[in-house]
Amino acid sequence: MNAGILGVGSYIPDNIVTNKDLEKIIDTNDEWIRTRTGIEERRIAPDDIDTVDMAIGAAKDAIKDAGLQPEDIDFIITATVTQTQRHPSISNYVQHAIGSKKIPGMDLEAACSGFMFGVVTAKHFIEAGTYKNVLVIGADKLSKATNWEDRSTAVLFGDGAGAAVLGAVSDGNGILSFELGSDGAGAEFLYEDENHNINMNGSEVFKFAVRQMGYSALSVLEKAGIEKEELDLLIPHQANIRIMNAARERLNLPEEKMIKTVHKYGNTSSASIPVALCDAVRSGKVKDGDNIVLVGFGGGLTWGAVLLRWGK
Ligand code: ACO
Repeated sequence: MNAGILGVGSYIPDNIVTNKDLEKIIDTNDEWIRTRTGIEERRIAPDDIDTVDMAIGAAKDAIKDAGLQPEDIDFIITATVTQTQRHPSISNYVQHAIGSKKIPGMDLEAACSGFMFGVVTAKHFIEAGTYKNVLVIGADKLSKATNWEDRSTAVLFGDGAGAAVLGAVSDGNGILSFELGSDGAGAEFLYEDENHNINMNGSEVFKFAVRQMGYSALSVLEKAGIEKEELDLLIPHQANIRIMNAARERLNLPEEKMIKTVHKYGNTSSASIPVALCDAVRSGKVKDGDNIVLVGFGGGLTWGAVLLRWGK
């Protein structure tokens, strides 16, 4: 039995903050942000919408997209670095809010790679026959973990949530290979500081990300015996367009085969890959039979990639 994606969903806050808006509160400018990162604007959720609210919105959207009911969900995994509180978990709140049965739920943290870790965990539960339908959410309200006086990080982040329902798909479809990794030696380059804000050594993270994203994407293709030329779509973590393009170039992929949302949402951490996947599906860029690589990196340092063939 192969696990694959049955439906996708997202929750994007309405409030748009442009680079020009940021110019008014920090010493930065639109030109610097665009050329260094590719970001033009991001969404910032208001005070009364927290990570959990966005997670619930994305979850409901994904269950509907999968053509399922909340009672069909057997397990919930939420990847996040911005929980409202350490416990109960966001997944517990989601379980109640969507009206599912009293199923297990848990949160996991692997920074921006968290959604990949969740998808691979779900795959194993499904393929072992333990759970039929697993809801995997990536949700983050990074605006509350941002030091708005630190221009080197404040311009990068945005808020949002994405989700996918995973379940059994027909032979040949679904997750064909995966790779996860972490290297605690790089913990000092990207971490939550004593004020609960993100602290980052941008150039070290940049170098790691360029190296690791390309390597992980190639690795999942190789594990599945799929040639670069057979890849239809690359959905990378949306941190910085320069990092994304470096991974794309390692795969010799033309620009139109890489999904890009970084210009409009910035880096939404755990939400970035599922939101981009949802965008791709909803805009008709994903077709049955497509070979798709999802690949992310994040604090930890962590990384994760999945090769899947689209289709139920
Ligand atoms: N506006 C204007 N100038 C700025 C800004 C800003 N927002 N931020 C920094 N600068 C200045 C710096 O002070 C520096 O000036 P100086 O030369 O006078 O000292 C200059 O711009 C160049 O700074 P660099 O750090 O060399 O710029 P770089 O080209 O490396 O880009 C960036 C910085 C965008 C942060 C890049 O290093 C990067 O993308 N790194 C990876 C970030 C990332 O992906 N993080 C993942 C986070 S995941 C998570 O935890 C949610």
